[in-house]
Amino acid sequence: MEATPRALSVSTDEGVATFSAEQLRMMRDEFQRFLLEYQFGLREVETKLGILRDEFLLMHDYNPIEHVSSRVKTADSLVDKISRKGVEPSFDAIRAAITDIAGIRVTTSFTKDAYRLFDLLTQQDDITVREVKDYIARPKANGYKSLHVIVEVPVFLSSGRVDVAVEVQFRTIAMDFWASLEHKIYYKYAGAVPDGLLAELQDAAESASLLDARMERLHGQLHGPRPHPIHAV
Ligand code: GTP
Ligand code: MG
Repeated sequence: MEATPRALSVSTDEGVATFSAEQLRMMRDEFQRFLLEYQFGLREVETKLGILRDEFLLMHDYNPIEHVSSRVKTADSLVDKISRKGVEPSFDAIRAAITDIAGIRVTTSFTKDAYRLFDLLTQQDDITVREVKDYIARPKANGYKSLHVIVEVPVFLSSGRVDVAVEVQFRTIAMDFWASLEHKIYYKYAGAVPDGLLAELQDAAESASLLDARMERLHGQLHGPRPHPIHAV
């Protein structure tokens, strides 16, 4: 049987670096702890969204959230982004520069609900807003629509408080449908999507927006002159 290596040598830009098994274990533990903070940040925001959803259901018999999905960036995708953005390889620098390590997507039925949930989340005392990108009001050239916010949420660990950045994207089912197809097409063509397909995607984004507006109008008719339940808070 082969002996367990006691050290590992890796080539770096500065030459060959050698790490002992103990050093490697420490690096692994530190990286796991770093990612765990983001997992906790996600949990805090998910809880907040869950509370808003349950309260709406109870008080207004209405659920503004179709579904919520969340993820912590994989180590591979994080390393890619660090090198793409030329971020210094220290945890503090990564924390400051990469704000989508923790990501949550909130899918709503209607555009109004996306804005309302954004307001209800970002107005909470313990939430700090770092950046907002409103691609619903100003869609991207390709047709992409979504309301993005980077929030910081406090997480209390045995070592004290850390403020964790979480990217939250709010979008309707129609916007989500479009974005997931566009994402697949973009990856299939490795970014070089043929012009004809780009034009079709823009056109499909327009149809999705029209459908959103139509469904929201119908929903308004269903509820008659009563205010939309989400505004009755
Ligand atoms: P990234 O470096 O990709 O995070 O972009 P950014 O830092 O400029 O942030 P932005 O808010 O523009 O985009 C963040 C995220 O929104 C992306 O990681 C995607 O999940 C989503 N997104 C942004 N633009 C598009 C788009 O054109 N199509 C799709 N499908 N998703 C998009
Ligand atoms: Mg991003």
